[in-house]
Amino acid sequence: MDNRPVGFLDSGLGGISVLGEALRVLPQENYLYFGDTRNIPYGDKPPETVYQYTHAAVERLISLGCKAIVIACNTATSVAAAQLRQELPLPIIGMEPALKPASLLPGDGRVLVMATHNTLKLPKFQALMSLYGQNAIPLPCSGLMECVEDGELSGPRVEGLIEGLLLPYRQENIKAVVLGCTHYPFLRQTISRFFSPDVALVDGNLGTVRQLRRRLEQEDLLSAGPGGKVSFFSSLQGGEPIRKMRQMLDMWQAGESK
Ligand code: DGL
Repeated sequence: MDNRPVGFLDSGLGGISVLGEALRVLPQENYLYFGDTRNIPYGDKPPETVYQYTHAAVERLISLGCKAIVIACNTATSVAAAQLRQELPLPIIGMEPALKPASLLPGDGRVLVMATHNTLKLPKFQALMSLYGQNAIPLPCSGLMECVEDGELSGPRVEGLIEGLLLPYRQENIKAVVLGCTHYPFLRQTISRFFSPDVALVDGNLGTVRQLRRRLEQEDLLSAGPGGKVSFFSSLQGGEPIRKMRQMLDMWQAGESK
């Protein structure tokens, strides 16, 4: 039993959608959340640069006393998770677009995978595509992350972007949409309006949190509680990024963003 915090990191606010799920499934744990606000975006920077940022963020969380790390970012996971696991002795849980569960859903329609440029072009996702991607359409979604960072989860800006992204696929028979960037679950309601109600919107958040629980169990690191304490950190000075993170978590927990 171990009541040290679990560290979460993302380039910004996206990972809070995963943190929200962790607080629901593992309420006896305490959490530190690091948003790399100064270096966002990760999605279209050179992978070597994203590796440096991710490495620095993980080191910071470890220096703050974390017992395990969740890389709550598909992009950072694709770039850095495998190497960091080799270098560091603590459990490191990563994320990938939920293409596998989406492709296994019943129906013969195609699976649209919304994610960043980096996630879709890196070897981790390419390997996933060769196993489960026969019927998949990878869709890099420039601009959506910025809407979430600006707190615009609905309205003309985000709707215009989604419409433009989906226009080429209007004639396709789509059975599922993968929200393959942790920012996109905040846009779930808005994205769902562009599809008929029988199209499933699939994210990897619950799968990631279950994997966290398994790894903590395996290493005998589960906390006996009391838990639920969350501290936020940002690479950007000042109170504003922290205020936004708290607000995003409150909104997530109130269910307004689901
Ligand atoms: N939230 C991140 C992800 O899951 C990416 C956002 C960014 O481009 O920084 O991929």
